Amino acid sequence: NKVVLAYSGGLDTSVILKWLQETYGCEVVTFTADIGQGEELEPAREKAKALGVKEIYIDDLREEFVRDFVFPMFRANTTYEGEYLLGTSIARPLIAKRLIEIAAETGADAIAHGATGKGNDQVRFELGAYALKPDIKIIAPWREWDLNSREKLLAYAEAHGIPVEMKRGKASPYSMDANLLHISYEGGILEDPWAEPEEDMWRWTVAPEKAPDRPRYLELTFERGDAVAIDGQPLSPARLLEQLNRIGSEHGVGRLDLVENRYVGMKSRGCYETPGGTILLKAHRAIESITLDREVAHLKDELMPRYATLIYNGYWWSPERKMLQEMIDASQAGVNGVVRLKLYKGNVTVVGRKSENSLFDPTIATFEDDAGAYDPKDAEGFIKLNALRHRIAARKGQLRF
Ligand code: ARG
Ligand code: SIN
Repeated sequence: NKVVLAYSGGLDTSVILKWLQETYGCEVVTFTADIGQGEELEPAREKAKALGVKEIYIDDLREEFVRDFVFPMFRANTTYEGEYLLGTSIARPLIAKRLIEIAAETGADAIAHGATGKGNDQVRFELGAYALKPDIKIIAPWREWDLNSREKLLAYAEAHGIPVEMKRGKASPYSMDANLLHISYEGGILEDPWAEPEEDMWRWTVAPEKAPDRPRYLELTFERGDAVAIDGQPLSPARLLEQLNRIGSEHGVGRLDLVENRYVGMKSRGCYETPGGTILLKAHRAIESITLDREVAHLKDELMPRYATLIYNGYWWSPERKMLQEMIDASQAGVNGVVRLKLYKGNVTVVGRKSENSLFDPTIATFEDDAGAYDPKDAEGFIKLNALRHRIAARKGQLRF
């Protein structure tokens, strides 16, 4: 009877809106979120109205997105397959949560989304939705309809009076997704993994070659593992990430071009711009480098790929993600202090770190005189006992190389 649609206001989801009304004869509630994608949201309201929608939700979720999703993820120094900062993956559980909340508020029994049937996003939306409301009905038009080409979609739009305006003058040949953490590009010439994208694909960052010749220094303050201030100025989570994006973009920071393994089984080529996130990751590792115990840091690093895969595959709302999160969060109590960074032509370099909770002890680390906590004589036995098994093997002629 009623379905909540994750609605961007773009052509695809507008066609979905109409198609839902026609195919299911149901009332559609639209939900449009501001998660920092940098698009006007009012046009989405007007379009939804024009298509006869009575209940229109437009929510500013920027602070919640960064505070409750991006920052917790960065506490783990999360990257998928070594590089991807999960910009799209981390936004999906929030959208899923809001869809389910709105379904409850409006008495809808179904939700719908515009993810294709070949990607990760469908999995993330739906795993999230089922976890939060086990009996929810899910409609994924891309898996159902026969509008499986651009031409058919455009023809449907035309036949139903859906405006097909081109965004920002020029239609992009890429499938894009943007929020406060990143912008992504897939499809088009990127489907050839050997083809370098043209320079004008990148929308956020200047080319490193064109970045200023003077480096930019900045200081990031951390409290309990979260960045709270830039150059001493306190900022809310969303404002802070916004600022880092601006500064990073000016210096060509955060471009990434990779082939990744999708959960559904295929390899896919994606390009990403994550300027603020790239700075944040470097800085967080640096503050941890002086505040975390060695074994705690190493254990975090071992578990991180698992945690990243959970987020990539859509298991944010799973008990094992929550368990890992509690452990990660517990490790962050002493992750406080300031990191000094230098941005220069696409690079982020850490040039300083300090903390009230620092475990770095110059009186012990020094090559000069020391305070007596470390006696070099102890090292002799330490090394000998660690070498014992090697010595036994060698003596028995069992050392094979
Ligand atoms: N491949 C990335 C991921 O799975 C980006 C997905 C982009 N999604 C989109 N709807 N354009 O997280
Ligand atoms: C999509 O299929 O809708 C985008 C790509 C993805 O989800 O991986």
